[in-house]
Amino acid sequence: MTITAEPSAEDLRRRLTDHLVAEGVLHNPAWKHAFVTAPREEFVPAFSLRTADGVRAYQTGEPEYLETVYRDVSLITQRDASGTATSSSSQPRVMAAMLEALPDADGTRVLEIGTGAGYNAALLCERYGDEQVVSLDIDPGLTAAARQRLHSAGYTPTLITGDGTGAHTPLAPYGALIATCGLPRIPAAWLDQLAPGGTIVANLGYGLAVLRLDEHGAAQGHFLPEMASFMTARTTSESVPSEQHDVTTLMRAVGTVTSAHVPWDVTGPMPRFLGAMLHPSATDLTLTDENGTTVHAITDAASGARARLSHRGEDARIDQGGPRALWDERLALLRDWSRAGQPGVERYGLTVQGCTHTLWLDTPDGLSWTLP
Ligand SMILES: C[S@@+](CC[C@H](N)C(=O)[O-])C[C@H]1O[C@@H](n2cnc3c(N)ncnc32)[C@H](O)[C@@H]1O
Repeated sequence: MTITAEPSAEDLRRRLTDHLVAEGVLHNPAWKHAFVTAPREEFVPAFSLRTADGVRAYQTGEPEYLETVYRDVSLITQRDASGTATSSSSQPRVMAAMLEALPDADGTRVLEIGTGAGYNAALLCERYGDEQVVSLDIDPGLTAAARQRLHSAGYTPTLITGDGTGAHTPLAPYGALIATCGLPRIPAAWLDQLAPGGTIVANLGYGLAVLRLDEHGAAQGHFLPEMASFMTARTTSESVPSEQHDVTTLMRAVGTVTSAHVPWDVTGPMPRFLGAMLHPSATDLTLTDENGTTVHAITDAASGARARLSHRGEDARIDQGGPRALWDERLALLRDWSRAGQPGVERYGLTVQGCTHTLWLDTPDGLSWTLP
């Protein structure tokens, strides 16, 4: 009889680290050390995962718990009464890509927005030292739990409860700011809290922007090749942005009808990235109507505009209403993308000056679009 020993947490940490290296998202020896050292299981005693059969819950001590903790997946650690996820331990692959984009300098003072489970804060403490790390979450229950778990794992960063989109935190200015909740735009408060030359790594729509603060007070830089979409930032600890839509309303035609040549899959990664950059408060839904036609509907909560695009081969029928012609705006950006040879996300960049966000291709003085 062969008895196979269960892999230990150390074995699993090493295996995950090797996987992240093989995936090409982890390179720096200092970050590799952080991933083989910080114990993810200390931060996620209970979580759930979406599987092919629905949602499955895991708890410490149960079979498969430890191996699942060290899978390269996001672990949902909190849901609200309606079942919507409100916190998680992010996917290690995305965490590694974002952490690698932070300054490679010991002792950098870092502000993390979105403490969540606290595992990312532990990795930051491993890399920069506990006294350099400030981590903030809007949910007091989460900061309390993360504080206790970080302390028992031997980490003592500064933890704050507050809204990371506006709060000015005590240890500013920072050499880097990393946000692990999704935002429509870079808040002006972030630029104020950065030291000259400081770095912002943040999720906007489906893009992960890496911006550096220049001597004129503008933050500027490219998007990472990795795409991801984090949980949207909440405005209070109770509120979760609603994803409920009335399908009957969405299927009803709106406003002006036009036609356009649309030779792209508008649900592909780059059209989705560009759409979210242009309409950060919009929801996209793809539905099939009673005639079997695929309809791509956009509803923009901020302006009240609505638009639908129905494909007929490479041609499309568009109907749109409200203060903005949402599909016209998107197709203009997609035509520029197509004319440029359909570049990947890493060729796009962003400049943030005050509240003005400018998207550009390759260089800030190249082809650019001021985002509304
Ligand atoms: C994806 S989770 C963070 C994951 C965490 N960094 C980790 O992997 O260990 C996103 C977190 O952002 C927090 N959050 C949402 N809106 C926020 C806001 N306005 N300010 C600060 N934190 C916010 C949520 O409560 C949630 O815990």
